[in-house]
Amino acid sequence: MALLPILRYPDPRLRKRAAKVDGVSDRIRKLIKDMADTMYAAPGVGLAATQVDVHLRIIVIDVSEARDQLRVFVNPELLAASGEADIEEGCLSVPGIYEKVRRPGRVTVRALDAAGEPFTLDVEGLLAVCIQHEMDHLEGTVFVEKLSRLKQSRILARLRKQDRRTVEPEARRLVL
Ligand code: NI
Repeated sequence: MALLPILRYPDPRLRKRAAKVDGVSDRIRKLIKDMADTMYAAPGVGLAATQVDVHLRIIVIDVSEARDQLRVFVNPELLAASGEADIEEGCLSVPGIYEKVRRPGRVTVRALDAAGEPFTLDVEGLLAVCIQHEMDHLEGTVFVEKLSRLKQSRILARLRKQDRRTVEPEARRLVL
C-alpha cells in the first residue's frame, strides 16, 4: 500500500489541467490503487489525481457508509447536468474548510472504469456533487475558487494561520 502526499491549496500545481489517459495500463491501475489507498487513509470521500500531483484525468470516489464501494472514473465527461444542489463540501487539499457550493444536482457522466471499460452513470445528490467536485480538480479548480472573493480571502487567511498544525479531515463530513 502506497500513500501519496496530497497537495494543499493554494499550491500552484492544483491549477494544472489534467491530460486524458491513453488506455488503462498496469501503471494506471497501480496509480488508481494508490489513489484509493490514499483517499481511504485520509480519510476522504473522493480524490482526483491532480491532488496527488499526477495530472491525468482519474478520479476515485466512495460515498458508501461502509467504505466498500469504490468508484473509479478515468477520462470522465459530463454528458448532462440539471437541477440544483447546495451541499456543504470539504476538500483534502483545503483542510478544515467546509462551504456550500451551488451546483447542478443531477449529472450524467461517461467514463472508463478501472478495467478500461466504458460506462455511463446517471446520478443525483451527494454522488453527483462529488463527481463535479473531482472533475473541477482535473480542470485545475479547487472548490473554494467557486465562492465569493470575500470568502476566498477569509479562507486563505485561515489556512495561513493553521499552516503549522495538522487539521484532520472530519469523518462525518464530505471531504473530497
Ligand atoms: Ni477536493
